Amino acid sequence: MASAASLTSATWPMVTHLTTVFFAGVGSHHLIRPYEIDSYPITICGAYLATLTAVFVGYYSKVFVNGGLEVAAAAWNTLALSCAFNIGLATSMLIYRAFFHRLHHFPGPFPAKLSRFYAARASANGLQMHITTQKMHERYGDFVRTGPHHLSILRPAAIPAIYGPATRCVRSPWYSATPGGVDDLSLLQTRAPEPHKRRKKIWERGLSFKALQTYESRVRAKADLLLSRLVESAGKPIDMTMYGMFYGFDVMSEVGFSKDFNMLKSGEKHPAIMALHSSLSILSIIGGSAPWLLGMLTRIPGASGGYQEFIEWCGVELQARRTVYNQERATKIEDKDPSDVVSWLLKAEGDGDIGAPKSNLAWQEEARLLIVAGRLYFLARYPDIYRKLQEQVDEALKPDGGDSTAVSHEKIKDIAYLDWIVQETLRLKPAVPSGVSRLTPPEGLQIDEVRVPGDTIVVVPMHSIQRDPRYWGGEADAVAYRPGRWETLSTEKAAWMAFNRGASVCPGKNLAFMELRLVLAKMAARFEVPQFAPGFDMEAFDCGTEDRFTMHLGELQLVFTPR
Ligand code: HEM
Repeated sequence: MASAASLTSATWPMVTHLTTVFFAGVGSHHLIRPYEIDSYPITICGAYLATLTAVFVGYYSKVFVNGGLEVAAAAWNTLALSCAFNIGLATSMLIYRAFFHRLHHFPGPFPAKLSRFYAARASANGLQMHITTQKMHERYGDFVRTGPHHLSILRPAAIPAIYGPATRCVRSPWYSATPGGVDDLSLLQTRAPEPHKRRKKIWERGLSFKALQTYESRVRAKADLLLSRLVESAGKPIDMTMYGMFYGFDVMSEVGFSKDFNMLKSGEKHPAIMALHSSLSILSIIGGSAPWLLGMLTRIPGASGGYQEFIEWCGVELQARRTVYNQERATKIEDKDPSDVVSWLLKAEGDGDIGAPKSNLAWQEEARLLIVAGRLYFLARYPDIYRKLQEQVDEALKPDGGDSTAVSHEKIKDIAYLDWIVQETLRLKPAVPSGVSRLTPPEGLQIDEVRVPGDTIVVVPMHSIQRDPRYWGGEADAVAYRPGRWETLSTEKAAWMAFNRGASVCPGKNLAFMELRLVLAKMAARFEVPQFAPGFDMEAFDCGTEDRFTMHLGELQLVFTPR
C-alpha cells in the first residue's frame, strides 16, 4: 500500500508535467503558425536550448520537485519534457498540414504535404528535382502541392500572375536563407519590393546597352581565346561544357570585377569556382527544401564548406576593387564611366545613392550573384541548324572576307536566328530548371479557374512548362530542338521564362546575349559542324542534366575542324 502511494506521488507530477508540455508543444505550433520564422533558425534554437537549460536547473534546484533531483535524474526529466514538447509540436504540425491546412484540398504526394524533407530527399536522389516535379504534374495535374505550403503550377497564366510587372507576389523565404537585414542583402535576395527596385536600377545602369559597349572588347577577346583553344585541339575531342564554363566565368570576372580568372588560358578551374561548385549540390538540396537549415549552415563557420570559402573570396576581391575604385575616384579618373559592373555599384555607393547596398556583406553577396548568374551552357549542336547559322553569319561577314576575329557585336546582333538558337536552348535547358519561388499576397491569387490561397509558396516549374506539349505544338514538337519556331513566337507571351519576367527579370540578359551571340557567330565563321567525339553518348549527356539550383551539364566531348 505504501509503495503504491509513493509511486503515485512520485509519478503523478511528472505525468502532469509531460501532459502540460505536450500541449505547450501543440500551442506553440499554433502560436508561430501565422508567422514566417525561416529567417530566425538560430534565435529559435537558442531560445529552445535556453528553455531546456532553465528546466534542467529547475529540476536540479528544487523549483519543480521538493528537495531537487540528482544531476542524472534532472537531465532525464528534462529530456523527457523536451520529447513531450517535440511530440506535441510535431503531432499538431502533421495533423494540421494533412487535414486542415489552407492547401489541403490540392493534390500531391501525401508525404510532401507533411514536410519539405520529402522534396529534399527527392532532390538528393540524383539531383533530378526538375524531372520529379514533371512526373508529379503528370500524375496530379496542373496544381500540385509539393510541400506543406508549396504549390507547383503548370499554367501559362501563372507566369504573368506570379512574376509579371503587376504581380503582388513577393520573393519566398528561400531568398532570406543568408543572414542579414535589408542593407546586407544582394539584389537577388532583396525581398521587399521598394529596396529591390532601387537596387535594381543600379544594376541596370551597370548592364545597360551603353555599359555593354565598354565591356565588348573584353568579351570579344575571351571569345577569341576560346576559339584559339579550339584551333589548338583541332581534330581532337575537347570538353565543351568545361570550356564553355571557362568562357562564361572568364567573361564574368572581367566584366564583373576587371579581374581575369584566366581559366581559358590555364585550362584549369579557378580555386574560387572549385569551392563554389563543390557546394552547389548541397546548397540546392537544402536551400530548395529547407532554407532555414541553409540559413543555419551559412552562419556556422565551416559548416557550408566551399560555399563559405567562395563568399570569403568574393569579399576579398571586392575589397580590392573598392580600394582601386576609391583611388580612381580621388584622382578623378572615375569621371569616365565605370569599367565593370561592381564599379557601377561602388559608384552608386560613392554618389550616396540610397539603393546602393551599405555593408561589406552586401558587396560580397552582389559579387557572388554576379558570378553565379553568369553561368552559360549553350553548347548542344545540331548540324542542319549549325549550317543555317553559318550561312547567315557568312552573309553578315562578307565585307570582312569571313574573318572570325572581325566579328563585332554590331555586325551580328541583328541575326535573328542567333537569338532563336539561344532562346530555344534555354527553353529545353533552362538555367534554373525548377523555377524560382514566390509568396502569394495575403488575399491570394487567381490563376485561371483556381484560387490560390494567400501566403502560399508558388513556383512555375521552368523545365516542365517550357516543354509542355499543350503549349509547344504537341508531344513531338515540344521536345524537338527547333529554333525556327521563334519566328512567330514572343518571349513575353510564350510559356517561356528563362530570364524571368517583370520586376525580377534578369538584368544580365543583354550581356548574356552578347556573350552567346559573339562566341556562336565566331565559331560558325571559323569551324565546320562540330562532331561528337567517338563513343560519346548523346543520350546520356541529355538525360544526365542535374538540377543544382542552376542547371549542371555533363561532359560534352566535341571535335572541331577549321573551315
Ligand atoms: C544565359 C544566361 C542567364 C540566364 C538564363 C539568367 C537567368 C536569370 C533568372 C531566371 C533570374 C531570376 C532569378 C530569381 O528571380 O530568383 C536572374 C536574375 C538575375 N540575373 Fe541572370 N541569367 C543569366 C545571365 C546573367 C548574367 C550574365 C548576369 C550578370 C551580370 C546576370 C545577373 C542577374 C542578376 C543580378 C539577377 C537578379 C535580378 C533581380 O533580383 O531582380 N544574369 N537571371
